[in-house]
Amino acid sequence: MVETSDAWIRERTGIIERHIAADGETCSDLAVVAAQRALEAAGIAGREVDLVVLATSTPDQVFPSTACLIQERLDIPGKTIAFDIAAACCGFIYALDVADRFIRTGGARRALVIGAETFSRILNWEDRTTCVLFGDGAGAVLLEAADEPGVLSTQLYADGRQQALLNVPWGISQGYERLTPTSGKITMRGNDVFKAAVRSMGALVDETLQANDLAREDVDWLVPHQANIRIMAALARKLGFSMEQVIVTADRHGNTSAASVPLALDVAVRDGRIQRGQLLLLEAFGAGFTWGSALVRY
Ligand code: ACO
Repeated sequence: MVETSDAWIRERTGIIERHIAADGETCSDLAVVAAQRALEAAGIAGREVDLVVLATSTPDQVFPSTACLIQERLDIPGKTIAFDIAAACCGFIYALDVADRFIRTGGARRALVIGAETFSRILNWEDRTTCVLFGDGAGAVLLEAADEPGVLSTQLYADGRQQALLNVPWGISQGYERLTPTSGKITMRGNDVFKAAVRSMGALVDETLQANDLAREDVDWLVPHQANIRIMAALARKLGFSMEQVIVTADRHGNTSAASVPLALDVAVRDGRIQRGQLLLLEAFGAGFTWGSALVRY
């Protein structure tokens, strides 16, 4: 489709494979499967959930929210709260923070927090600077009220002044009738985003460690947004983390935006690297810009 090569993609991004939703397969289709697996892993039935928060920038439709579509398909009762959060690649961290606050204030007891995306639908397949990077996917976690908190601290940031560096510059305001085949697709100044991501996430990790009086050795796993292996390596180097402490799934998923952190978590929990009681530092950076971290005792 474009002038590129497997070698360029592997070397510059670390991506080897990724997954694209089938024709007609939607964000909610992927999210429902992820949510079912999270419920199964937690041993919780859908009817016991009282909050559904979905992080996505590729909802099935303008409204109802995709979280409501998921609620219906999982047979979660009507008294539940359900809504979407749009914070691009940082969406899952935002969603985790919001769900945690609901639980802390007694507004919910069991929250399904999902990150799901079908970025293949908003890729310009003629733009080699973006079309080789993104994949589709979904990941989910179940948060439950407990005496000992699991989400220990969160930090969220946004800076709308940088919006032009990474966006889909079309929406309802521009009018569907004037939409061209490429106007509703991702545009990105990759190099500028790269530098901003390393700078912001680096500062964030330092800040999180300081705020919690922790040294980097106290953190068992860094679970970063999976945009690019070079961003993760630069970050690890800058912060003095060994790559052995970093969960990497960009090689098999590509950049799945809001799904990337929960997908990475899922892989590392299921393959036994992440163990109960360990300290995880989740972090992400995305369009907005938005960026954030969550320190979690698994
Ligand atoms: N195949 C071959 N060549 C390519 C390709 C490609 N797919 N894409 C770009 N190139 C070329 C460029 O045209 C350029 O050529 P030139 O030197 O002749 O002009 C050259 O490769 C180098 O381009 P750079 O943009 O400098 O490449 P870089 O090493 O920065 O890698 C990349 C590009 C992979 C996009 C990187 O910058 C990146 O990962 N950026 C961050 C992405 C990110 O983190 N996004 C945030 C989250 S996404 C979200 O929120 C939705």
